[in-house]
Amino acid sequence: MTLALVLSEWGNFLLRWTHVIAGIAWIGSSFYFVHLDLSLRKHDGLAQGVGGEAWQVHGGGFYNMVKYVVAPPHLPKELTWFKWEAYATWLSGFALFISLYYTNAELYLIDRTVLDISSSTAIAISLGGMVAGWVIYDLMCKSRLGHNDLLLGIVGFVLLVAASYGYTKVFSGRGAYVQIGAIIGTIMVASVAMTIIPNQRKIVVDLLAGRTPDPALGAAGKQRSVHNNYLTLPVVFLMISNHYPLAFASRWNWVIIGLVVVIGVTVRHFYNSRHAHQPTPWWTWAVAAAAFIAIVILSSPGAFMSKSAGVAPARQVAFTEVQDIVMSRCSMCHAAEPVWDGIGVPPKGVMLETPAQIRQHASAIYLQAAMTHAMPPGGNLTEISDEDRAALAAWYEAGAKAQ
Ligand code: HEC
Repeated sequence: MTLALVLSEWGNFLLRWTHVIAGIAWIGSSFYFVHLDLSLRKHDGLAQGVGGEAWQVHGGGFYNMVKYVVAPPHLPKELTWFKWEAYATWLSGFALFISLYYTNAELYLIDRTVLDISSSTAIAISLGGMVAGWVIYDLMCKSRLGHNDLLLGIVGFVLLVAASYGYTKVFSGRGAYVQIGAIIGTIMVASVAMTIIPNQRKIVVDLLAGRTPDPALGAAGKQRSVHNNYLTLPVVFLMISNHYPLAFASRWNWVIIGLVVVIGVTVRHFYNSRHAHQPTPWWTWAVAAAAFIAIVILSSPGAFMSKSAGVAPARQVAFTEVQDIVMSRCSMCHAAEPVWDGIGVPPKGVMLETPAQIRQHASAIYLQAAMTHAMPPGGNLTEISDEDRAALAAWYEAGAKAQ
C-alpha cells in the first residue's frame, strides 16, 4: 500500500468526520433557534423592542431569553454570530464531494447506461446545478411568490422533484442523490452567507449610525432560516442514502426523493407547531407514515422493479456459477489487493474472493447487484449481464449455499 493511498484514505475520513460534526453543530443550532423563536411569549412589562420572552433550564441553570425583534437600542459589546457552523458544513461537504464524486466521477457520478458523458461534463452539470439551484431559489424568495410561503413551498417542491427526475436521467442514482443533497445544502448555506448574515450586518451598521434598521431585513433572514429548518431532514437523508441502494438505485428513485421531502417537511411542521404551543398537528405523522410506506413499496421488487425483472432463472444455480460471476464482475475491486485502477483498498472493506467471503456477503451482493443495479458502479463498469444478476438472485433466494 502506498503512502499516497494511506494519506488519501485518511484525508477522506478526516473530511467526513469534520463534515458530520459541522453538520451536527449547524442543524443543532438551527433546531435550537427555531424552537426558541417559537416558544417566545409576549407579555406586559417587556423592555422596549422585545418581541417575546422564554425561560429555559439546562445544564444546572436557568436561562431567561428575550428576543429583540429588529435590534436592541444599543449594540452590545460582545455579540456571538452563528455562521461558521453553516460555512464549515458546506466547505467540508464540498471538499468531500470533490474528493469522492469529482475525482472518481466514472465510479460514482456517471452511469453509462443512463447517459454516457465525460467526467468533465458531469462535473460541469453538477456545479451548474448547485449555482442554478441557489439563483432560482433566491429569485423566488425575492419575487412576489416570496410573500406567500405555502405557494412558494409548493413551487419549490415541484422544481425539486423535477430536478431529481432530471438528475436521475443524467447521473447514476447514487450521484443524483448526493447532487440533489448538495443543491439543497448549497441553497441553505448560501442563504446564510448571502441573505441572513449580510442583512444582519446592515442592521448592525444602522444601529451604530443611530438609524432605525428596516424590519424587512430581519424578516427576510427569518424566512430563509425557517426554510432551512424545513430542509434539514431531507438533506440528511440524501447525504446518508449512499449505503441504501433500495433508495437510490431502484427505479423510482426520483419519486422517493419527493416523498422524503414530504416526510421531512411534515415532521418538522409537527415539532414546530408543538413548540409554538399551537394545536398539535397529529395528521403529519399519518402523512409521513403513508409516504414512508409508499417508499418501501416503490423500492420493492415486483411490478415496479428495474430492467432485469422477469429474467430470473427458475433453475437451481450452482455455487461455482455464482463464484464465476463474482470473480469476473466484482473481485477486481473487491479484493484484498484490488487491481482496478483508482481502487486502492477493498471498497467498504468488502472482499469477494473466497467462497466464505461470498457467502458472508450474500445478502449485500443480493441487495447491491441483484435487487438493484448499484453494483458494479459507474453504470455497470464490469458489464454484468441481466442473466447473471438473475442467477445471483436465484442463488440467494434458494438459501445462498456455498457448495
Ligand atoms: C469498479 C470497482 C467495483 C466493482 C467492479 C464492484 N464494486 Fe462493489 N463497491 C465499489 C466501491 C467503490 C464501493 C464503495 C461505495 C461507497 O463508497 O459507498 C463498493 C461497495 C460495495 C458494497 C458495500 C456497499 C455498502 O454501502 O456497504 C458491496 C456489498 C458491493 N460493493 C458489492 C459488489 C458486487 C456484488 C459486485 C459485483 C457484481 C461489485 N461490488 C463490483 C467498487 C466496485
